[in-house]
Amino acid sequence: MATVAVIGSIMTDLITYLDRMPERGETIAAPSFAMGHGGKGANQATAAARLGSEVVMVAKVGTDSFGEQTLANFRANGIDTTDVTVTEGPSGVAPIFVEPDGSNRVVIVPGANESLTPADVEGARERIAGAAIIVLQLEIPLPTVYAAIELGAELGVPVLLNPAPANAELDFDQVARCAFFAPNESELALLTGMPVETLEEIEAAAQTLLAKGVREVLVTLGERGVLRCTADGVEHIAGITVQAADSTGAGDAFIGAFAHRYAADGDIGGAIEFANRYAADSVTRRGTQSSFATAEEFAG
Ligand code: RIB
Ligand code: NA
Repeated sequence: MATVAVIGSIMTDLITYLDRMPERGETIAAPSFAMGHGGKGANQATAAARLGSEVVMVAKVGTDSFGEQTLANFRANGIDTTDVTVTEGPSGVAPIFVEPDGSNRVVIVPGANESLTPADVEGARERIAGAAIIVLQLEIPLPTVYAAIELGAELGVPVLLNPAPANAELDFDQVARCAFFAPNESELALLTGMPVETLEEIEAAAQTLLAKGVREVLVTLGERGVLRCTADGVEHIAGITVQAADSTGAGDAFIGAFAHRYAADGDIGGAIEFANRYAADSVTRRGTQSSFATAEEFAG
């Protein structure tokens, strides 16, 4: 099996399912709560591992029980934790609120993720060298993201950058060195300052990234599917309608599944189609990683 290297974040998700959001100063009771393994990097790594990829994770946890549970979860999913190190202080956490229609609001408290450094990336060089793709997000410091892009260039390993959550400081000279840039529509809006209501608007915004030298822009659109924009043209991969239970982590399911399939055979179109279906499937179940199917479950 091909190897996917994920350099990114780990959070413990603290998910409250509520009937409505409270007003300022108001206290309300909510029907249920669940704790789960999250963080965009960890989620993407888990999706790829459950689908059967070898996964190398480069990340940081803190000296608390969340950190220990995270390491146990990685091992249970067969993820290589050689480069997941423990740093003094709290692990990352994410309080999340999910409303009855499956929509979510997420707060991240990065904790240990803030101390993932370029030196940590360099320390993983040997294992990253064996990967077919490097996957990055923006829940770790930007210098570390740039060091990973540089290492990918040195090693000749293609890099996918998922600019989530969007960061207006992101340097597009660095983005242009990535093989794939995969924002969702709100990240695309923040990064370009352009409207993204219609597919035409989304395409126009993506074109400005192509003009900056980005080769392959994959805009994930939730129930509207994916818009793939390259110098060769634009392709809309239609969304898949499902009964939504919880969309938290669906974007990560897409990225992890894309990386898994692309690592296997390099077929970009096939990987997009596969990941689109995998992400839609994850929306039908509650939670983040808890909603990611294994290869057997997804096929069946
Ligand atoms: O993309 C979903 C993830 O974002 C959650 O798991 C949460 O931890 C935040 O990082
Ligand atoms: Na889900």
